[in-house]
Amino acid sequence: MSRYILYCRAGFEKDCANEIQHHATEAGLFGFCRAKDNFGYVEFELTNGEDSALFKKVKLDKLVFTRQWFCLIEELFDLDPSDRISPIVKALAGHEYADITLDYADTNEGKAVSSFTKKFVVPLQKALNKQKVVQNKAEAVLHIFLFNSQHILLGFSPCNNRSDLHLGIRRLKFPASAPSRSTLKLEEAFHYFIAKSDWPTKLSGGLNAVDLGAAPGGWTYQLVQRGMMVSAIDNGPMNKDLMETGQVKHLREDGFKYEPKKRNVHWLVCDMVEKPTRVAALMVKWIVNDWCKEAIFNLKLPMKQRYQHLAQVVEQMEVALYEGGVRYKLQIKHLYHDREEVTCYLTRI
Ligand SMILES: C[S@@+](CC[C@H](N)C(=O)[O-])C[C@H]1O[C@@H](n2cnc3c(N)ncnc32)[C@H](O)[C@@H]1O
Repeated sequence: MSRYILYCRAGFEKDCANEIQHHATEAGLFGFCRAKDNFGYVEFELTNGEDSALFKKVKLDKLVFTRQWFCLIEELFDLDPSDRISPIVKALAGHEYADITLDYADTNEGKAVSSFTKKFVVPLQKALNKQKVVQNKAEAVLHIFLFNSQHILLGFSPCNNRSDLHLGIRRLKFPASAPSRSTLKLEEAFHYFIAKSDWPTKLSGGLNAVDLGAAPGGWTYQLVQRGMMVSAIDNGPMNKDLMETGQVKHLREDGFKYEPKKRNVHWLVCDMVEKPTRVAALMVKWIVNDWCKEAIFNLKLPMKQRYQHLAQVVEQMEVALYEGGVRYKLQIKHLYHDREEVTCYLTRI
């Protein structure tokens, strides 16, 4: 039996739980979840399989709603405030890790814990270094997950199947000149879906892009900043400064009816607030018709059963892409800057 902790956005615990349950079952692993609303994490207890079996059979980047995860080593309760470190050091005797991370849930309670971790981290690291717990060649990272200053979980995640970001969260600075906060969604999507080595060719000047549902221009801003020429499709008004760059053509058209005149569009991005089935079908149409090379789009999920609905939409896309005779790559993630929506990346391969 092994226990895993999966981090997610607060309020998405049921989606995170349903998703891991589904993937584990598909991989022949059986277990059950404990998920409480707004806790910012889910516990998954595996009842068969060796320790860390889940890490071997399920890839974190295939999970939409999980940001980060670890497998439990030990749970420490009622830590003595005068010496919290000794029990941790004792529990880790003989273990080696490539790195250590001090974690907490992405909730208000978690934020309160984060100020405590700042005081705790230096003496803890000293003690663990003394015991040589950190070794460059080790294959897993140690997670010290704090519920509060007296209740701690120790766990590990494998270096080759985890997020390199603290808590699985990419923090980005809002660019002061961007027209809307949603600019960060597209910026985060570029970081998440596009390998840094591909940025010079895929996110560079001279490429053409189409932004469906562009107003006021937060997503267009990201494309313009990278030197692209953008057709911004929306009945609403676009930000004036953005229009003055000369890189944006604003077309007051229906994004579901718009068709590019030339076959020179690299990026299609779409943030229209519409039914996920409609947006998904539109994105597939663009890829199957070869109207663009790559697409990044949001699927809005205001319904209760988000995971189940998303699974149906994905199936609908897979069928349509198969019928369209296209070999493709589809990735989906509930990004940090997403709220009741997920971000998708679709391209031909
Ligand atoms: C969430 S906002 C987009 C925000 C934008 N991505 C940004 O970063 O500033 C959704 C936009 O989609 C537009 N929209 C909704 N349905 C549309 C349609 N059928 N055709 C074109 N635009 C549409 C709305 O007018 C609205 O401006």
